Amino acid sequence: MNNDLLQHVERYLVGRLLGPEALAQYDRGPVGKAFLRPTASALVRLSDDFTRERQNLAEAAPGDYWHDTRCLAYLFHFLPRNYVKAAWVLAELGGHPDVVKELTAKSRFTVLDVGCGPGTSALATLSFLASLQPAAFQVRIVLVEMSPAALQKATDLLRQAADWINAERHEAMTLHVTPHTGDAKRTGKYPPHAAADFIWLSNVLNECAPEDGPPAAWVRELVRKHLAPDGSLCVIEPALHASARAAMQLRDALLEDLSECGIFAPCTANGPCRMLAGRPERDWCHVALTWHPTPLVAQLDAMTGLSSRIQKFFYFVLRKDGKHATEARSGWTPWRVIGDLQREKGREKRLVCGPDRCTLLMRFKRDRHAGNEAFSAARRGDVLWLSSAPVLLADGLRLLPHTQVERQTVASPTTE
Ligand SMILES: C[S@@+](CC[C@H](N)C(=O)[O-])C[C@H]1O[C@@H](n2cnc3c(N)ncnc32)[C@H](O)[C@@H]1O
Repeated sequence: MNNDLLQHVERYLVGRLLGPEALAQYDRGPVGKAFLRPTASALVRLSDDFTRERQNLAEAAPGDYWHDTRCLAYLFHFLPRNYVKAAWVLAELGGHPDVVKELTAKSRFTVLDVGCGPGTSALATLSFLASLQPAAFQVRIVLVEMSPAALQKATDLLRQAADWINAERHEAMTLHVTPHTGDAKRTGKYPPHAAADFIWLSNVLNECAPEDGPPAAWVRELVRKHLAPDGSLCVIEPALHASARAAMQLRDALLEDLSECGIFAPCTANGPCRMLAGRPERDWCHVALTWHPTPLVAQLDAMTGLSSRIQKFFYFVLRKDGKHATEARSGWTPWRVIGDLQREKGREKRLVCGPDRCTLLMRFKRDRHAGNEAFSAARRGDVLWLSSAPVLLADGLRLLPHTQVERQTVASPTTE
């Protein structure tokens, strides 16, 4: 369903924004380059704005890019890339049996998508809920966004999405969209709504003017006043040093201030961020997913030299009900993989974050066996469950020869 929805969105946008001739080409194969050239050059510019030329974003009004051709670049490239990240975060929630049980028992949901842009995360949530819930259900989506242009696109895409989803269902999903033009930080001005099952802050914190103060105060209000007791606050940020570290600090501030909150993921335990506490300043937490880019993303990649197959991102999910993506298992400890496998003479190592530290976990060549193969097979974002505590070395932790290693992956329908 997730992939289907993304395909519907892409096809719809091609017809709406590039016209019937481009749509006819899209249905047969690649779209002619002449149709895509303005989007491709805007994509290069927007991509720079989001990475090495961030000063441009900081100096412009919020959502400035919704008013020129960069809007096309966002819709055709960033929307699908951010959608698969949100779908991945949702898939991890959907991997928790009790979360699924609670969600399937409900027939009314509220989703608050703050800094929604074109409704990327709300779209992924609709698809996720539709895949979980075969019975009829209602969703209220509250969209908060500074840019009226983005808000209008989000509203349109969500209404279309409800039709596409319902066309494949026996029992209808009823959608209500409440758009709100305004500043994310002014939570008191949000339209009234039932406590939210999902609050999304997806790629927006880094765009909220830092001179207005750190985001902890208004995000705390968001959690206190807008999140349901069994809801999830889902934060996604780009895998960039500054934005990820700022979000790691936000995570710590929220856990410190909100005693009712616990971390669902990616951290495998509550308490202060182990990376901020114990790793060098140059490190930042991020995971990665691999997906099959949609046809237009692949075409735009080929035209611009960008590469979208692997999406790296920072995320965290907070909940008030104490659930964790890694529920305790007697005798086993969970370690989140946040680094790629590095091979050196006689051993392999990778950065992991676990119950009491963020460090390099090592497997010596001579200790390799079928029961710990998961150590090298795992990808960034997986959890490695160890059957016994690793041993402390000067430069990290060492897997003991007899330790069994199990791999917990996020099974997202949009990823490989
Ligand atoms: C990078 S986009 C993310 C859109 C969407 N959440 C996603 O993940 O694709 C950031 C969005 O936040 C909006 N934005 C920036 N600052 C904002 C603020 N202070 N209040 C509300 N929206 C804001 C921008 O207009 C833009 O649409």
